[in-house]
Amino acid sequence: MTTPEPLPNNLGPTRLQQIYDSTATFYDSVVAQHQARAKELAIELLARQPGERFLEIGCGTAWALSRIVAASGAANAAGIDVSPGMLAVARDCLLSDAAIANPPLLVADARALPFANASFDCALTTYTLEVLPSDDIAAVLRDCVRVLRPGGRLVIVNLTEGEGADAAISDEWKRGYLADPEYYSGSRPLVLSPFMDAAGLTLQTRRYSGHGDSWPSEILLATR
Ligand SMILES: C[S@@+](CC[C@H](N)C(=O)[O-])C[C@H]1O[C@@H](n2cnc3c(N)ncnc32)[C@H](O)[C@@H]1O
Repeated sequence: MTTPEPLPNNLGPTRLQQIYDSTATFYDSVVAQHQARAKELAIELLARQPGERFLEIGCGTAWALSRIVAASGAANAAGIDVSPGMLAVARDCLLSDAAIANPPLLVADARALPFANASFDCALTTYTLEVLPSDDIAAVLRDCVRVLRPGGRLVIVNLTEGEGADAAISDEWKRGYLADPEYYSGSRPLVLSPFMDAAGLTLQTRRYSGHGDSWPSEILLATR
């Protein structure tokens, strides 16, 4: 079976930052229920151990980051996002829900991560690659590989083509997206394997979450 090309996306980081700044305060109330199960699976697959150097890329409101640092500690953990609005919500979440005194958050563009080569043992990115133009997906994955140590782990969650009865959901999503990409905040179903191969990542595990548990999503564990 051929892998479908990602639908076109012309939203650059400046426009994406504006979109996510403007939705930050209500983002979780709209999407969290549709993403929670896939993110829980991702956190499980990541299995971050205390002290491991960990980066979340496009951490948004810190839904996942707050759970990870609550379970395995804030030492050596960091989250980056291009949207200061999302990070303001993330900061409140980490201060209150995870009781982290100095939330380790940084405004940064994931295409050029402000970290040295091989700085991290593991990394996570959820529902972020599919909001980017194709060239930027490739650039972000390349930079993830650069900042991971050899053998380091990357877990990715992305909205994907629905399996079985979920195909109707992703087909409808794609129709809506093509009519108004901004309404969907740039997000369209994506099959990530070709991008991972091109970035030199080795896929270890793929899981699918959907069927009423979450939006059709793939959860991928890869190693550098
Ligand atoms: C759909 S949200 C997902 C947020 C969070 N990871 C989650 O699962 O709830 C996409 C996130 O990617 C961030 N983003 C978009 N382009 C980015 C870039 N070039 N660099 C860093 N973050 C970016 C947005 O600001 C937003 O927070």
